[in-house]
Amino acid sequence: MLLELSDTQELIQRTARDFATREIRPKAAELDKTERFPDELVRGLAELGLLGVNVSEEYGGAAAGVVAYSLAMIEVAKACASTAVTMAVTNMVAEVIERFGSPEQRQEHVTKITSGEHLTGAFALSEPGAGSDPGSMTTTARETDDGWVLDGQKQWITNGAYAGVFVVWARTGGPGTKGISCFLVERGTPGLTIGKKEDKLGLRASNTVPLTFDNLRVPRSALLGELGGGFKIAMMALDGGRIGIGSQAIGIADAAQAESVRYAQERKQFGKPIADFQAIQWMLADNRTELDAAKLLCWRAAALKERGVPFSQEASMAKVFASEAANRICNRAVQIHGGYGYTREFPVERYLRDVRVTTIYEGTSQIQRVVIARELLS
Ligand code: CAA
Repeated sequence: MLLELSDTQELIQRTARDFATREIRPKAAELDKTERFPDELVRGLAELGLLGVNVSEEYGGAAAGVVAYSLAMIEVAKACASTAVTMAVTNMVAEVIERFGSPEQRQEHVTKITSGEHLTGAFALSEPGAGSDPGSMTTTARETDDGWVLDGQKQWITNGAYAGVFVVWARTGGPGTKGISCFLVERGTPGLTIGKKEDKLGLRASNTVPLTFDNLRVPRSALLGELGGGFKIAMMALDGGRIGIGSQAIGIADAAQAESVRYAQERKQFGKPIADFQAIQWMLADNRTELDAAKLLCWRAAALKERGVPFSQEASMAKVFASEAANRICNRAVQIHGGYGYTREFPVERYLRDVRVTTIYEGTSQIQRVVIARELLS
């Protein structure tokens, strides 16, 4: 088993790292404080091909694969987790439209996402009463002579106020997961209302809003994939999305570890750097070990996806381990920094706030365990 990066993967990693270090990192604290959506950074990501890392060149993507996508996500998340989630959801939307869309839908939307014309994409699955259980959604799509009429509400929609295109799930007939279909809704469509931005613990520069569809009309051509096939599209998209969020968690934890190592060598107590104490060394050693384990799990899932073989269970294992390990690592980073870690003078408090959601969104840790257990018991 080779654990070496290809030239393309190294190039994507270097490109993302350079941009993140030069352009994103210096702005991260200010973005967090002011809750400003970093549209200029998102445009920069588009210019570098990072909004379609695993999208084919025909539609303006980098065609660099899933491992490269994970590497890029880690680099961006090290610098700013808010920018990283904006990138993650946009890549997921570009990929789902490329995979399930008609040639016209791909040409229209994937190309606009990768070029930055759409700025971002949004993934509108969750509802106020349907989070872990999207199969119970109540948003409806009613067929008319020339298309569909959507009514309902969506919740926790990342990028909602900035997206050029929304992938929307709605019930087209019957209860349960088989009655759900998927639609592409363009920004500015009458009947689409973007609600008030959520006031979140972390990821404060990312945009999270509720959406309301009130008699929202879309043409027949807005259906993505097959009628009644929407739930499976969502599940397949989320399998890939979980590699992205696992990688985001790794990036945040990587940054927290770097700050912890630096601080432990500088900070002196009892006449010597605190890094000389085993209590600190063990925390740093655990961080390093868990980070590497998380990376290997994510890259294995990414490599499987890239080869076109089943990877749901591996993606869930990667996501649950990486996000929980990252939470432990960021928590230890604050502990190592002591009282200073609890202030805005050091970035570790931001990492701890930002990392918290990674065990919740893109499927909670509990849902990942459901996916893992179902597969091993089936
Ligand atoms: N790939 C393909 N098909 C799949 C699949 C997968 N990974 N998982 C399920 N399916 C299929 C099943 O085979 C089944 O097909 P049949 O009806 O033909 O047999 C169908 O889908 C229904 O599957 P289940 O009966 O397993 O469905 P369920 O209702 O029990 O749900 C679940 C399964 C795994 C719990 C799922 O509901 C789930 O993943 N929940 C979490 C939702 C989630 O992750 N939300 C995140 C929101 S997006 C987000 O957070 C983005 C962001 O902002 C960062």
